[in-house]
Amino acid sequence: MLYRKLSNKSDSLELSVITYGAFAAGGWMWGGTERKEAVESILKSYDAGVTSIDTAPVYGQGLSEEIVGEAIRDIPRDKVQILTKYGMRWDLKKGDFAMHSKDNDNNDLEIYKYAGKESVIKECEDSLRRLKVDYIDLYQIHWPESTTPIQETMEAVDQLIQQGKVRFAGVCNYNVEQLKEASKYVDIVSDQVAYSMLRKDIEADTIPYCLETKKGILAYSPMERGLLTGKIKAGHQFEQNDHRAKLPFYQEGNLQKINAFLDKIRPIAEEKNASLGQLVLRWTAEQPGITIVLAGARNASQAVQNAEAMNIDLSADELATIDGHLNELSLTR
Ligand SMILES: NC(=O)c1ccc[n+]([C@@H]2O[C@H](COP(=O)([O-])OP(=O)(O)OC[C@H]3O[C@@H](n4cnc5c(N)ncnc54)[C@H](OP(=O)(O)O)[C@@H]3O)[C@@H](O)[C@H]2O)c1
Repeated sequence: MLYRKLSNKSDSLELSVITYGAFAAGGWMWGGTERKEAVESILKSYDAGVTSIDTAPVYGQGLSEEIVGEAIRDIPRDKVQILTKYGMRWDLKKGDFAMHSKDNDNNDLEIYKYAGKESVIKECEDSLRRLKVDYIDLYQIHWPESTTPIQETMEAVDQLIQQGKVRFAGVCNYNVEQLKEASKYVDIVSDQVAYSMLRKDIEADTIPYCLETKKGILAYSPMERGLLTGKIKAGHQFEQNDHRAKLPFYQEGNLQKINAFLDKIRPIAEEKNASLGQLVLRWTAEQPGITIVLAGARNASQAVQNAEAMNIDLSADELATIDGHLNELSLTR
């Protein structure tokens, strides 16, 4: 495993380049979860060098954080880095309405984006309790919201840092303007954003800005939620309430093109005795400005395979070949 610091400061937070993403582990939006399997997948990835875990209260409405808490129970606290979030409420109708959804028991949910000061402080206490820890390594706003000034939100996080409940402040899904504003009130060490072979939008401005200001980038959904492992073909049957069935990249025309692209790069993986997913994760970790690759996993075998992606090497020629095929890909979004 490789480990990277989120910024170039000596006391900066160091994370495993493959960080375990615990979104699917919470079941919500992913057609349910197996708690035992999820705990085991975190433990097996820790054994494979993955010391950092990313979760959020809204993932399974507390369940993902509880699973993470259970998994790390016997690991010395300073050997793991816990990344969680705030600002997505399912138990309060305040802020910006985000979406209608269903919980793991198929009950209706209404999710709001809200990061008022009192809410951030309360959410932090709830997360600490569910995770059974007394501090969070990286505390990130989950989505920007329009009803609270960024100043108010970031001052709340700064207060949590002063109290020792949070070590570092990060954000998710922030654009450059929002990053600049937030950085006035607290030291923002990272932005967690969607990035994959198929979604490179942040190369236009977020990556250059973060490189210039020495902020880390945590790339989320690097396998496009399983698609880039090559296992999703036309007609794939998803469980009820698995959000992937409706995503644009999962629709028939795109699916065919993406699988044809994967067939072109498959020989590079095979030559290294690697899976396509491993090739995709390693490619992601090699992209300029991408510090951390957040890889989700449903079970121990996926988790270990993802962790071992960092054992393969990609030459400049191989990276260029992959990029050449990517440049020929034209998808509908
Ligand atoms: N901040 C945000 O707004 C945001 C948004 C999304 C994600 N994230 C974070 O980023 C993390 C990673 O993103 P993600 O979970 O959305 O997507 P991902 O990592 O691209 O894909 C994860 C899914 O792909 C499948 N998979 C994983 N490893 C595999 C393997 N080796 N072989 C075959 N299939 C495999 C699993 O689903 P199946 O087995 O069910 O196919 C798994 O749940 C999340 O867990 C979360 O921590 C953050």
